[in-house]
Amino acid sequence: MATNHYIPPETIDEIRTSNNIVDVISDCGVQLKQAGRNYQALCPFHDEKTPSFSVSPEKQIFYCFGCQTGGNVISFVQKHEGKNFIETIKWLADRANISLPERDSKSNDRQKLINRLSELNAFAIKYYHELLRTGQHSQQAREYLKNRGVISQTINHFQIGYAKQQRQDIVKAAKHEGYSIQQLLDVGLIKNEDLGPQDRFWNRILFPIHNAQGTPVGFGGRSLSEEHQPKYLNSPATILYDKSKILYNLDKARQSISRKQSALLVEGYMDVIMLHQHGIENVIASSGTSLSQEHAFLLRRFTPDVVIVFDGDSSGLKAAQRGLHCLVGKGIRVRIALIPDGGDPDSFVKEHGADEFDKLIDKAINLIEFQIQSAIQGNNIRNPEVKSQVMKDTCEILVNIQNPVERAEYVKYAVKELDIDEGLIWRELRKSGLKDTPIPRKFNQQKIKDKKLSPREQIELQFVQSLIHAPEHIRTVRQEFDINDIQDPLLARIMQILWDAAETNEDVDIQQLINTIEDEKLSGFITNTLLNKKDIPNYYTRIQGCIVKLKTYLIQDIERQVRSSSQSGDNDLDTLKELVDISNRRRNYVQEKQSEQKENMNKSEIATDTPVNSK
Ligand code: UTP
Ligand code: MN
Repeated sequence: MATNHYIPPETIDEIRTSNNIVDVISDCGVQLKQAGRNYQALCPFHDEKTPSFSVSPEKQIFYCFGCQTGGNVISFVQKHEGKNFIETIKWLADRANISLPERDSKSNDRQKLINRLSELNAFAIKYYHELLRTGQHSQQAREYLKNRGVISQTINHFQIGYAKQQRQDIVKAAKHEGYSIQQLLDVGLIKNEDLGPQDRFWNRILFPIHNAQGTPVGFGGRSLSEEHQPKYLNSPATILYDKSKILYNLDKARQSISRKQSALLVEGYMDVIMLHQHGIENVIASSGTSLSQEHAFLLRRFTPDVVIVFDGDSSGLKAAQRGLHCLVGKGIRVRIALIPDGGDPDSFVKEHGADEFDKLIDKAINLIEFQIQSAIQGNNIRNPEVKSQVMKDTCEILVNIQNPVERAEYVKYAVKELDIDEGLIWRELRKSGLKDTPIPRKFNQQKIKDKKLSPREQIELQFVQSLIHAPEHIRTVRQEFDINDIQDPLLARIMQILWDAAETNEDVDIQQLINTIEDEKLSGFITNTLLNKKDIPNYYTRIQGCIVKLKTYLIQDIERQVRSSSQSGDNDLDTLKELVDISNRRRNYVQEKQSEQKENMNKSEIATDTPVNSK
C-alpha cells in the first residue's frame, strides 16, 4: 500500500531528535529502569528473565545484549510496532506534532480510496458478525461453529461472521450506509452478474482478514456443507488485499510472536482460531497460498524463527516445501512440525490439548534436515544414480543458506546422512554459483566478545570501530586506505557503508546512517559500537596507528605472494614487478607515517593498547 512518499532527510532527522527514545520505548509498554547513565528492561524482542535490553538517553539508541538487536528510535518503533519506515516516520511525526510535506493529489486520492474501502470492510465485518451472533436465520451457522468447538469468546475475538442465503443482503445494507456499488465491487464484497450486483458471500461463515497493521482487507468464507463448493471462498485481489503480502492473524499475533521470538505457520483459518482458543497465540496462516518473498520480508520484521506446522500426510507436502526456500534465503530459521495421523492443528489441539501440541512444536526439526530426510526417504540411496540425484536436490537446499557457518554445519550433516565425500558437495555448491570458500569463517558480535581474535583481526576491528566513534575522519581516511585491504567480510561491508556515506555527505552522521541500513547484523554492530564508546583522547592518532599496522600486514602478504610465485616458477615478470612496486610504495608509506607519528607522540596512545570491546 505504501506509495512513494518523499520525506527529506532533514525532516526525518528532526522527527528523530524530537522523539526521545526513552519516552517512546516507555510509551510502547516497555518498563525501563534507570541503571547509571542508561536504562534497562526485559527485552521486548526475545524471552528473557534478566534484563539485557539497554537504552542510552545520551546517544538515543537501544541495544539488547541478549539478542543483539539495536538501533535508534526509528528502528525501535519499526520493529516493535511492526510498521514500515514511512508508517514509523508518520507515527513519530504525529507524536511530536511535526507536519509532513503534503503529498501530491494523485496519491492523496488513492489514500482516500483506501481509507474509504477499509471503512466499508469494517462495516461489513460488523454487519456479518452481528448477523452471526443474533440473526434469526443464523441458527445453522451458530450450530456449525458450536459443533466445531468454537466458543463465543473466540467468535468475538476473531469477529467471525455469517453471510445469509440471500444474494442481495450486504449490497442493500451497505448502500443504506452510503456506500456505492462501485465501492462494493472494488472491495470484492459483490459481483456483477446477469441479475445485477450480487453478494459474493452467501450462506458462509466469514473470517475477516486484516493486514499487519490491523486494517481490514478481506474475508475468507467457509461453506456450511459439502455440497456448497468451494469449501473456502476468499476475497479477490483488491487495492487492499494482495494475497502475497497478507498473513492471516498477523495483526493479532504479532505481539505474541515478538515476545516468543517465534511464529507458528499453519494452513487454515480454523487452525489459527482453535490454537488461539487453547492459549497458543503466536499463530498465523498463509490461507491457501504458497509462501512468497513478501511474506518472508513481512515475517522477518517480527521474528527470525518460524515453525511450519504441516498436516502429516498432506499431499502437497513436497510442493509446499518449495516456497520455503525463500524464507531460508531471507535469513529466517525454518523448522517443520508434523501433525500425526492425518489430523490438522485444529483437530489435534481439540483432541490432545495445548501441552501435547507444544510438545510437537518442540520436536520440530530444521527445514534443511527435514528436506534432506525426505529426499532420502523412499529412495534407494545405495543406488549411485539415486544418490547423485538426492545429493543434487540437497545442494539446491544448501545453496540457499546464507550464513556460512550454518551452511557448513548442514554440509556435514548431509555428508553423514548421504554417506558421501564432503568435497563433492562443495563442488556441487560451487557449480550452483556459491562463491564462499569451503572453509567458512564466522565473525559476528558474539565472536568479537568471546573469541580471541588474531592480532590482525583486532586491528581491523579497532580501525572500523574508531571510524564509527570519530566519523569526522572518514573523509580523509577514505583517500588513503583501500577497502579491499580489509579482510573480514562484515567489517568490509560496514566500511563500504561508511565510505558511501562520506561520498555524499560532508560530515557523516552515524545516527542518520543507522536509519538507512537494512541488515540488522550491520546496524547491530554499529549501535553496539556506539554504546561501548570509550573516551579516548585522540581518535585520529588511533586511526592512523591502525592504518600503519594494517599496511604492514599487507606488505607481508605481498612479500609472501612474491616469494611463492617466484618459487613456483611462475615467470610472469610483469606481475612480479608490479607486486614489488606495490610493496615498496607501501613500505615507504608506512615508514613515512611512522616517523610522522613519532613526532606527534607525546601523550596520545597507539593502536595496539587494548583489543577493544570489553563488555
Ligand atoms: P483445508 O482444506 O485444509 O481446510 O484448507 P481447513 O483449514 O482444515 O478447514 P476446515 O477445518 O475443513 O474448515 C486449508 C486452507 O486452504 C485454503 C483456506 O485458507 C483453508 O483454511 N483453502 C482451502 C481455500 O482457500 N479454498 C479451498 O477451497 C480450500
Ligand atoms: Mn481443518
